[in-house]
Amino acid sequence: MTARKPLVIVTRKLPETIEARMSELFDARLNADDHPMTAAELVAAIKEADVLVPTVTDRIDAKLLAQVGPNLRLIAQFGTGVDNIDVETARRRGITVTNTPGVLTEDTADMTMALILAVPRRVAEGARYLRDHDGNWPGWSPTWMLGRRITGKRLGIIGMGRIGQAVAKRARAFGLEIHYHNRKPANAVIEKELDATYWESLDEMLPKVDIVSVNCPHTPATFHLLNTARLKLLRPDAYIVNTARGEVIDENALIRALEAGELAGAGLDVYENEPIVNPRLLKLANVVSLPHMSSATIEGRIEMGGKVIVNIKTFMDGHRPPDRVIPAIM
Ligand code: 8YV
Repeated sequence: MTARKPLVIVTRKLPETIEARMSELFDARLNADDHPMTAAELVAAIKEADVLVPTVTDRIDAKLLAQVGPNLRLIAQFGTGVDNIDVETARRRGITVTNTPGVLTEDTADMTMALILAVPRRVAEGARYLRDHDGNWPGWSPTWMLGRRITGKRLGIIGMGRIGQAVAKRARAFGLEIHYHNRKPANAVIEKELDATYWESLDEMLPKVDIVSVNCPHTPATFHLLNTARLKLLRPDAYIVNTARGEVIDENALIRALEAGELAGAGLDVYENEPIVNPRLLKLANVVSLPHMSSATIEGRIEMGGKVIVNIKTFMDGHRPPDRVIPAIM
């Protein structure tokens, strides 16, 4: 007799190769039309599944977890951030949580760098001008579309984990000076390699930098880390880039500061109330807004799916999955 395959419920559509492999290995229930699951669908899923594969768009909170069925033992998140999951409540209920770290580091750092370049150099504004004017422009002029130079500026990275370090490496190649704030200093070899200056106090770093890049996870400790008071510490010619989580910045305070000219611009890939993007942000010429796409490469998504499969398979084979999320080190 063959053992029953685990029922794996996947909340969103994944790359074809991943879905095909999941269907071979598991009793996989897929989301063919990729609609975001309703609260009722999520409840039904956790009541029935052995394994749930959610993404950032699914809220797995204590209220939902109170309704889990007897079989759910693993939540294998398709994504690195797990701020959509109440990991501690899951742990107390005997449910393991895994994620997909590492495979989206380079893609996310690339997009961060793209925004670091795009905002001061007015890339989106220039492209939009041509499109809005059917390609008609006044022609080159020495004083038109002037942005700010990147080389020689100071970049302040908040969160020097994998992604923060990958951003720093790229930024060095563009002649930026690296400053960073983190819970603790990066290891000495990395600090030396990046020629990076550690600021234990975020409040002391902010007035010194020209561009801030948010690269820390969203946790209770980082919620609204950049609040009104901290945004005021930035110079009016400073820029902010956020490819981490919208909740790390008080979005209303950021919009007020941008509208008041207290900041030079922002490059945002994430928002506090996704998928809602505050329309005031879209009105600002000095803001480049992207729809949460920093990790959106085909290669990255396939590698994320590969990690999810390895996590499920290892867990089901009775071993510790490689990417187990431990609440204390989140
Ligand atoms: C993913 C992300 O697209 O992995 C993360 O933490 O922010 C994204 O780039 C998304 O979260 C998938 O769940």
